[in-house]
Amino acid sequence: MSKNVQIVEVAPRDGLQADPADLSTPQKVELIERLIAAGHTRIEATSFVSPKAVPKMADGDEVMGRVPRPGGVSYSALALNQRGVERAINAGVDEVCGVVVATETFSQANQRATVAESIQRWRDISAAAREAGIKTAITVSAVCGCPYEGRVDAARVLDIVSQLAETQPDELALADTIGVGVPNQVAALFAGAAERAPGVAQRGHFHNTRNTALANIAAAIDTGVRVFDTSLGGVGGCPFAPKATGNVATEDAVYLVHEMGYDTGLDLDTLIETSRWLETQLGHGVPSLVARAGGFPQPR
Ligand code: COA
Ligand code: ZN
Repeated sequence: MSKNVQIVEVAPRDGLQADPADLSTPQKVELIERLIAAGHTRIEATSFVSPKAVPKMADGDEVMGRVPRPGGVSYSALALNQRGVERAINAGVDEVCGVVVATETFSQANQRATVAESIQRWRDISAAAREAGIKTAITVSAVCGCPYEGRVDAARVLDIVSQLAETQPDELALADTIGVGVPNQVAALFAGAAERAPGVAQRGHFHNTRNTALANIAAAIDTGVRVFDTSLGGVGGCPFAPKATGNVATEDAVYLVHEMGYDTGLDLDTLIETSRWLETQLGHGVPSLVARAGGFPQPR
């Protein structure tokens, strides 16, 4: 097992899409510049969805047009239909991300499609992205529970994973979109997904709505997962999941994995400074604890 954990920073998309603040395009670009300065190499920059559905991501094309393009930094963006993937390709993203929600009610609320339809949409999206030479990553969302249907059967999630494996994504993420999951559940889901999609890189996406996200990251690491989505400060949520507060904070996750002996390439102090800067831009505090407490105390 490698001693590296890779962090995908999702504050510019999953974070800002649901935050009450309305950041301008230049503020979003500055956030991305600061994230790169902290060491981030994978950033979910925006989404190319309907601006009526998610008004805060309406400037995705402009954001991508203005971000710096240093070598080694990869930008991903969410696309849920043909129009979205075309916009993503034109905007020059490095990776297109799709979402298939595990339950029908949430799938309708989020993307106005049945689960089967959204799997078909992903087939088309990933084919288009691949033809354009862009990486593809698919997320199965609400894998630990659904805001509308309650508990979600693992068998149902794994059946979706099997169908998605046919599209040979570069990465497959399992998302606890509403932050209800617990470590043994998460470990079982990732172990099952590894059987259904052998050889496909896995990524964990945990919300901290009920304070279980860090425990879930630790459990996923134990099953071999080495890539996690986190959001600076812990901002964010899903606009279509009632009460889906807070992503897991980048600085909290980085503290955890560094102390567990994994390298992320990220500088914790710079992340904390950037998190404080983000609070000034958002006009409100962020849920991160490490941003308040700081890293491991230096001996006095
Ligand atoms: N980019 C820009 N506009 C888009 C678009 C895209 N990718 N896809 C659709 N639209 C616009 C259409 O032009 C249309 O606008 P109009 O009403 O002015 O004609 C409107 O959105 C509806 O288009 P339609 O093709 O009928 O889509 P839909 O109503 O079936 O919705 C989605 C499907 C996926 C586009 C929509 O549900 C969506 O964007 N959801 C966002 C989900 C999301 O980001 N969730 C959070 C993270 S998972
Ligand atoms: Zn999320």
